[in-house]
Amino acid sequence: MRVLRGFALLVLAGGLAFGENKVILKKPPKSLHKYYPPKSKNFEFLNNMYIMSTSFFGINLNINEGNWKGALEWANRLRDTYKKTSRMVPEWKKYFKPALADDLVKAVKSKNVDKVIKASKKLGQTCASCHRDNEIAVKLVYHYPSFDNLKLEDPVEFMEVKVGKYMEKMTNSLKALRIYLTQGQKDMAQEAGTNFAERVRGLRAMCSKCHTDKASEEIYMGKNLESALTKLEELLSAEKLDQKAIFSTLDRISMTCAKCHNVHLVPAMVQEALAK
Ligand code: HEC
Ligand code: HEC
Ligand code: HEC
Repeated sequence: MRVLRGFALLVLAGGLAFGENKVILKKPPKSLHKYYPPKSKNFEFLNNMYIMSTSFFGINLNINEGNWKGALEWANRLRDTYKKTSRMVPEWKKYFKPALADDLVKAVKSKNVDKVIKASKKLGQTCASCHRDNEIAVKLVYHYPSFDNLKLEDPVEFMEVKVGKYMEKMTNSLKALRIYLTQGQKDMAQEAGTNFAERVRGLRAMCSKCHTDKASEEIYMGKNLESALTKLEELLSAEKLDQKAIFSTLDRISMTCAKCHNVHLVPAMVQEALAK
């Protein structure tokens, strides 16, 4: 019995296309919206993807066990779901080649393994070409909550600002601290540094808008950060400012920024770019 390795690999790799030296991030078409929250909680489009890739495997698995009847059932399911999916997002119609799904059913009916492999590859290529153009962007837009409509209370100016604005104010306090410290302006450095510490603490209020688990919050905003912030405030209230110690404490705090950015910033940037 021949094993259908060729298409098992092709399809089970999920969607992502490898081996190209570029990544495509196109704004997903409007008609996809209705298959994702908040419009729908059922993920109809994504579920069809699961059905199709399971069906591909169902064909493979059954043929390897000599169960052509079972294979045909999965082939029919694949064809039906493929055709149904092709009508869900009109803007993506061109990616679908329904005749190739019919060909696969015919190949399974013929009980000819080579024909099944060939037909599977051809159909699989239509999956891959849509994935290459759309999968990453769809994941970033629909599976990631948006920072864009969140607001945070700025503890220094007592006003609500958007996250991007808040980051900017916080970063400006940090830069001002570095500048005044370098220029030896003690009072100004103290004020900028205190504002910076307050703004970093204020970030915490944002976490619970998405995370229900306090443990996530603790990872970046926990004891380590708080002890660095307390240390910064101590250093700032000293008689003579210890520039070196302050800079090294700022480096500790910046680790929090960098870690949180590694997880949250890239998706937020892509979403923002695609929202335009
Ligand atoms: C939630 C974790 C999180 C933490 C902690 C965090 N940031 Fe951010 N930061 C973000 C997100 C998300 C954005 C994008 C916001 C947007 O544009 O709507 C951002 C954007 C920024 C930007 C604008 C960057 C750009 O390239 O557009 C700066 C600057 C920035 N943060 C500085 C900081 C500094 C400094 C700290 C630490 C003191 C920090 N951030 C801590 C999540 C975080
Ligand atoms: C017209 C575009 C398009 C076509 C054609 C298409 N897909 Fe997809 N597929 C997507 C998009 C977009 C996603 C990401 C959906 C998401 O994450 O919500 C995806 C995701 C997937 C995933 C990953 C699911 C996950 O858990 O992340 C699998 C597996 C998959 N598709 C299988 C298939 C198979 C098999 C075919 C062909 C028979 C196919 N797709 C055809 C657009 C397409
Ligand atoms: C706009 C929504 C949003 C906000 C606000 C947000 N996060 Fe996240 N965060 C996510 C998403 C989405 C993930 C990916 C994991 C997931 O889907 O739950 C994630 C992952 C994480 C992770 C890694 C895995 C995990 O779930 O623990 C940590 C740690 C984390 N965030 C910390 C924070 C901290 C600290 C803050 C506040 C400073 C914050 N996040 C604010 C959406 C958010």
